Amino acid sequence: MKVTPSNAPLHATVTDIDLGVPLSRTDLHAVEAALAKHGVLSFPGQQLTPQPFKSFSAQFGELEFNVANKFHEPGMPEMMILSNMIRDNQPVGMADAGQGWHTDLSYQKVIGYATILYGLKIPHRDGKPLGSTEFCNMHAAYEGLPEEMKSMLEGMTVLHDFAKFWDMMRLEKGSSRQELSAVQRAARPPSSHPIFLTHPLTKRKVLYANAGYSMRINELSPSESDRVLDYLFKHQIQEQYKYAHAWRVGDVLMWDNFGTIHNAVADYLPSEHRLLKRCQVAGSRFFQ
Ligand SMILES: [Fe+2]
Repeated sequence: MKVTPSNAPLHATVTDIDLGVPLSRTDLHAVEAALAKHGVLSFPGQQLTPQPFKSFSAQFGELEFNVANKFHEPGMPEMMILSNMIRDNQPVGMADAGQGWHTDLSYQKVIGYATILYGLKIPHRDGKPLGSTEFCNMHAAYEGLPEEMKSMLEGMTVLHDFAKFWDMMRLEKGSSRQELSAVQRAARPPSSHPIFLTHPLTKRKVLYANAGYSMRINELSPSESDRVLDYLFKHQIQEQYKYAHAWRVGDVLMWDNFGTIHNAVADYLPSEHRLLKRCQVAGSRFFQ
């Protein structure tokens, strides 16, 4: 396999590798090391049916189950379908997944490690791909903070809540998501994590807060917490930390949720079809 870093603050392209067959131990370690180093990896030109895609993902840890979500591959609750397509008057998949800056599963007690997407239909307009996925580098965002901010916030924790992103999509972006029931809210209670998480593989600190799920800094007053989070949410999405992935059919895109945040750009119309499949790897190998 060959790892070619982009001329960007994160991301590398990995070629000369077939994800449809089990990776050797050497290749598995090399992919994991490249993921920690570059944050986002793309593997172009892959041809995967659901089972090999799931098997590839499962080599990196325990897969998340989305039993409550109907948009999964038949018989495979570990594989979600992301799509704006309609078939027989029914949506094919989740149409508005990830449209806003966040990191996956930060609201869980055991946070998410890797997310892996496989691009099957990519909308294009005037020959250019639409629906890119943007990322920012949270190792660099931590390092770019003023020293007084780093020392003031050291040791503090942030409360993350699944309902924040859901309610934002419903109330501000007018999506067709239903209001969460009390049972659904109770099933995903908020969780707190260090604001500066030590990345378990790079052993360096990352800024672990995101506008999608982060509610407050527990150790500050509500008004001070709002002020600091507002600053951090602007700081962390500066161009100097950003890479935008322009999709091609057959791309597998894998990212490290500890050290990056991401945003799904919604610049395509309902008639411009997009179809991706997704597996998420829990961080249970690293965090309890
Ligand atoms: Fe996401």
